[in-house]
Amino acid sequence: MTLDSRLADSKVEQRVTRVRTLKGEIIPPGDKSISHRALILNSIARGRAEISNFLPAADCLSTLSCLRALGVKIELHGNEVLIEGVAGKGFSRPKDALDAGNSGTTMRLLAGLLAAQPFVSVITGDASLRSRPMDRIIQPLNLMGADIRGGEQNTRAPLIIRGGMLQGIHYRLPVASAQVKSSILLAALFAAGDTIIEEPAPSRDHTERMLQAMGANVKTEGSNIILSPPSCLSPLDTQIPGDISSAAFWLVAGAIHNDARIRILGTGTNPTRSGIVEVLQSMGARVKIENERWEGNEPVADLLVESSSLNGTAIGGDLIPRVLDEIPAIAVAASVAGGTTVIRDARELRVKEADRIRATVLELSKLGANIEELPDGMIIHGVAQLRGGRCHSHGDHRLAMALGIAGLIAEGETTVSDAEVVDISYPQFWEDMARLSV
Ligand code: S3P
Repeated sequence: MTLDSRLADSKVEQRVTRVRTLKGEIIPPGDKSISHRALILNSIARGRAEISNFLPAADCLSTLSCLRALGVKIELHGNEVLIEGVAGKGFSRPKDALDAGNSGTTMRLLAGLLAAQPFVSVITGDASLRSRPMDRIIQPLNLMGADIRGGEQNTRAPLIIRGGMLQGIHYRLPVASAQVKSSILLAALFAAGDTIIEEPAPSRDHTERMLQAMGANVKTEGSNIILSPPSCLSPLDTQIPGDISSAAFWLVAGAIHNDARIRILGTGTNPTRSGIVEVLQSMGARVKIENERWEGNEPVADLLVESSSLNGTAIGGDLIPRVLDEIPAIAVAASVAGGTTVIRDARELRVKEADRIRATVLELSKLGANIEELPDGMIIHGVAQLRGGRCHSHGDHRLAMALGIAGLIAEGETTVSDAEVVDISYPQFWEDMARLSV
């Protein structure tokens, strides 16, 4: 590939060309979801914690600066964080609106925390985040006794949060969303009485695992998560596993390239996140899980992927929340797999950083993929060869990276505009691509 990024008005256009081989080792960046939670949960603990392999990418830095604006002392040195929890004295009222940037996790989780604080706060974000649904957290948090208002009939940010005394609730989530579940759990820590959250399908459980490790009384019984408010959380020194959602791009790239062998070290393999490995294996990918171990309360392994001959597959139902962020990458694999891939039950993709169904279909079509849009997914008929083209990231980090790996096997040159958006979750993505490419 050519690592040639052109700068125009601080927007980067990335050029990618087909490469002969794709070989080497990757250390994926720290997990984004766990990095947010390590900051937020340690901010309410009593005492000081050290976080290593933290992800200093734009989304997690949004959480970090919001917490600093709430008076939390946080030092960041590369990938290391020192954080002093405020349990003893509480947060201070922010002097200005909190800015969650592009990060849904920041806005939704912090809203849960702010719902229980004795002050009024405002949280906003960029144009993408301000267009995403927030009624899914406003409703349960208001049921708990908060007073949260938003634009467009209380459905959109900016949110004005008048925090106060909360009551535990029994709440059935209308969608399987770890962000909504975690928002309610954070509020529930400060509420009077137990909270029970019923999930329609299991979503990522990093919040529950970390809360347990910090001494909270939280348990999962079937599809219910039950939290009894603790008196205080203990700080948690933690090493963040590599992000499987970032590793996913190399798993797909290795599987679709005809001369590839990539080992991805130290990747989180939490079963609520590892659907990508099952999906690729079911398509015939040669993916091995090696050196399984634990880092703190999360399972971790090295993943080895080699060139494979892929077949289409069907993805839907309870698998969807376990692969949701990986669907743009899976769509690339399906584009060059033998036969047809059908993805259903993934309507949630329409309310991510972009409408990921529409944007993936539009952009992969430009590269010669045979892909149709469904209201809740897509149908992809594999083709023998993708061809280069001019693509747009739609300001979506995961789509930019999916288009990048498609470019590694497409004939001719692929360009991805607004390619700097990878900074949201994987700032070294284009450099790692150049390192693996020969
Ligand atoms: C996340 C949960 C998922 C995921 C997002 C991060 C989290 O969103 O898509 O990238 O950290 O909790 P939903 O839980 O809203 O589906």
